[in-house]
Amino acid sequence: MSFRIFILGLSATFGVAWLTVVVVPYITMKNLKPIELNEAVDGAKGIFYPKRTGRIANGARVYAENGCYLCHTQVIRPTYAGNDLYRDDWAGLKADPDRGDTRRETNAYDFFGEKFAQVGVSRLGPDLSNLGRRVESIYAAGKDPANWLFSHLYNPRNEPKRYQSTCPSFRFLFVERTIKGNQSSDALPFSVDQNVEIVPNADAKALVSYLLSLKKDQAIPAVLNFAPPKNKG
Ligand code: HEC
Repeated sequence: MSFRIFILGLSATFGVAWLTVVVVPYITMKNLKPIELNEAVDGAKGIFYPKRTGRIANGARVYAENGCYLCHTQVIRPTYAGNDLYRDDWAGLKADPDRGDTRRETNAYDFFGEKFAQVGVSRLGPDLSNLGRRVESIYAAGKDPANWLFSHLYNPRNEPKRYQSTCPSFRFLFVERTIKGNQSSDALPFSVDQNVEIVPNADAKALVSYLLSLKKDQAIPAVLNFAPPKNKG
């Protein structure tokens, strides 16, 4: 093999991979056009566009800064690539009291308006695409969902059944201070000392707003729904 063929082969090998994994997806997904919901088929009117503004956007930055994406994904893979859709409450709620079975695959539109699509690097912890739903309806049902998340961030091993959790503790997002007069309304329900309260800082609050906004299971236009019909039984 001549040196020339070797270099050509090398460029082709890496070039084709680069084209199909980077360039083609970039070009096809860079300018997604909003899709209008069709009332007859989708049961809703208007434009399909997830909401992402203010503190939620700041929270996405805190999520990125702390490397949550290293262990948590935000993609419910299509059924040909994995069984995510059938894992209880990862892809949505199996039995939402109002909407029934809301589980669905993630699509490119779910990342509309996000500066970076936090699809994740590895899946050491659970997928967080629908964390907001799980916290509100399961983990903290009837309680304050933000408080559940603050407690988890402060000490992931706080809940008895998560005593072996390997999710890192993000204590530096909290301030421990001596109580003077009344306790702060946003203090955590537990503390290290009777006279000390643990209060989330601005970054923790932004992160929790972002985490609660993670609900990638809203109804999608029929034109985007490629999932096989679910067994309702
Ligand atoms: C070293 C890997 C790692 C990193 C980094 C990490 N986590 Fe985790 N996380 C885990 C593991 C493992 C679990 C599962 C154990 C548990 O439930 O605590 C988990 C669980 C969770 C849960 C509970 C999810 C559920 O549905 O039960 C939340 C919420 C969470 N992590 C948020 C975060 C946030 C926010 C960050 C970044 C600030 C983060 N994690 C960074 C590994 C990680």
